[in-house]
Amino acid sequence: LNYNVNRERRYILQVLFNGLRRLEYRGYDSAGIAIDSSVSRDPKSSQPSSDQIAPTPLVFRQEGNIESLVKSVYQEVAEIDLNLEESFSLHAGMAHTRWATHGEPAPRNSHPQTSGTGNEFLVVHNGVVTNYEVLKETLVRHGFTFESETDTEVIPKLAKFVFDKANEEEGNEAVTFSQVVLEVMRHLEGAYALIFKSRHYPNELIACKRGSPLLLGVKEATENTGNGPAFHDNKFISKNGHPKELFLSSDANAVVEHTKKVLVIEDNEVVHLKDGGVSILKFDSDRGKHGVSLSRPASVQRALSVLEMEVEQINKGHYEHYMQKEIHEQPESLTTTMRGRLIRGGSSKAKTVLLGGLKDHLKTIRRSRRIVFIGCGTSYNAALAARPILEELSGVPVTMEIASDLLDRQGPICREDTAVFVSQSGETADTLHALQYALENGALCVGITNTVGSEIARNTDCGIHINAGAEIGVASTKAYTSQIVVMAMLALAIGGDTISSQARREAIIDGLFGLPNKVREVLKLDQEMKDLAKLLIAEQSLLVFGRGYNYATALEGALKVKEVALMHSEGILAGEMKHGPLALVDENLPILVIATRDSCFSKQQSVIQQLHARRGRLIVICSKGDAASVCLGGSSRVIEVPQVEDCLQPVVNIIPLQLLAYHLTVLRGFNVDQPRNLAKSVTTE
Ligand code: G6P
Repeated sequence: LNYNVNRERRYILQVLFNGLRRLEYRGYDSAGIAIDSSVSRDPKSSQPSSDQIAPTPLVFRQEGNIESLVKSVYQEVAEIDLNLEESFSLHAGMAHTRWATHGEPAPRNSHPQTSGTGNEFLVVHNGVVTNYEVLKETLVRHGFTFESETDTEVIPKLAKFVFDKANEEEGNEAVTFSQVVLEVMRHLEGAYALIFKSRHYPNELIACKRGSPLLLGVKEATENTGNGPAFHDNKFISKNGHPKELFLSSDANAVVEHTKKVLVIEDNEVVHLKDGGVSILKFDSDRGKHGVSLSRPASVQRALSVLEMEVEQINKGHYEHYMQKEIHEQPESLTTTMRGRLIRGGSSKAKTVLLGGLKDHLKTIRRSRRIVFIGCGTSYNAALAARPILEELSGVPVTMEIASDLLDRQGPICREDTAVFVSQSGETADTLHALQYALENGALCVGITNTVGSEIARNTDCGIHINAGAEIGVASTKAYTSQIVVMAMLALAIGGDTISSQARREAIIDGLFGLPNKVREVLKLDQEMKDLAKLLIAEQSLLVFGRGYNYATALEGALKVKEVALMHSEGILAGEMKHGPLALVDENLPILVIATRDSCFSKQQSVIQQLHARRGRLIVICSKGDAASVCLGGSSRVIEVPQVEDCLQPVVNIIPLQLLAYHLTVLRGFNVDQPRNLAKSVTTE
């Protein structure tokens, strides 16, 4: 909504397009936008009657990235000679970028999805409607025809159905936009954040959510006065009266350039923006289920949160790609992760860690029957990297679960367990569902996320933010290293401060203090990794061998190469080499072996020898000064990395592999930040 246009006029289109650009990392196979075609009515007038119905909103949908949408909109806008300046004096617009789940990327499957001709109801959706087939069947029986293969299309059609039915029964004065939406919600199952726009309610937007994230950003006429507005009894308490602009988004990145003041919308809340004002209703699911009551106003009384992020964080700076920037900023992101959490110790005080988010729960965690780590993709790998030190220091059995697999098996989780959910985004559907499952089974649930206010952060009993800063590259890099560091600190926090463990604990804490500098040092391998990438550019496949602390490095390194460089790559537990992988070894297949100094070093030396004996084409990552011990003849290539405390070595060792994956991708000509078919946040199962 754009108020006070005399002083600050701007094109709604640009605001929406920029928002989409900020969200493009979440999905980039198609995009869409809905704007009003002209100023529809006096904002002070009451609800429109049917003869006052506003002109049809303009909807643009395009396959491909945001820029193809931008291009097509400007072409069409020019064609219909729309006077933009006049059109946007008061405006409710919305936009969406998609990562296809139901239906191929195509304009008809892009959002906004519509109720049909005339765009009476339009909806953008993040999530998945699980009962869409049943709803579709019912709507088809009532004469609706569907044009897309999406689950989302049932939502605007259901809204039209509800609206028409209410009008038939009571006349359209009776039904408000929020009543329509609340009735629609009553029928929806699954996870969603939705924004509704309707031709029947110009200058209004309704947003609601269940399971998927949603933020309301509030920009006042003067942003910097006092503590800003608070939301109290459905009003913003603000010296300036109405806020000037209101933003709804599934992600803070799209909002932060406009305002840092946000209200994190909670499940079952329905946000109604109307003529510059906001009201929030609470959907009462029990009453809703029984069809008794549509709504009751929520007494929403909470202060706006202030986003702790800067716009610069979500820009590429002088780097060409986000992934490149995020790899190179790891010395800083690790420093932020550890800030205020490591205590140096003094003459009488021991070195220790302080994790404020866990302080009331540490005893329970120590007494757990086991600690189970749950995550997906890179987050799972990070937990795997920290597992040895967690086992060593906590003395509690530590198990690992890939979230989807735990759910598939309905694996046992019980009250005596501590379940730790690791997720950069804090909103991965599989991890969230596993969290739900663990909560239902009574486990103590701990969250480790990079997103303050995310579903996982809010729904766990306690947790630790990794504070790595916004991560935009789809391939996770800096979040991975920060997650490992957080879990190493967790191991220190759980482990008792016994005399026997003191030297080890202090060595780890010293290692943590020194880690950013070691990472700075290893980043100097950039050119060497680029040269290696040139050698590997045309390969079909790459194997990565690791064990112990660095089994996870092998999995994560292979995942990076696979997801961005689109080259088949497999992480292999070196201890399993003789049970299958050895059959693949010949003089052509490149094999990367991680053999830095730790208790597994001599075993890895023997692995290298056996691979060498089969004329394997070896690339070895070893500790500085060890080249001679790992290089067997001219056939191997050696990359030396600084040595750190064994449990922190995975943080250092992954960096050459991140650099390799990055350079391979650029050299092979693929999209680094938006790898084919992948999305940063996978919000559907
Ligand atoms: C997607 C992303 C990965 C990420 C995984 C888990 O697959 O592409 O980079 O590791 O989800 O995401 P989370 O946000 O839960 O860490």
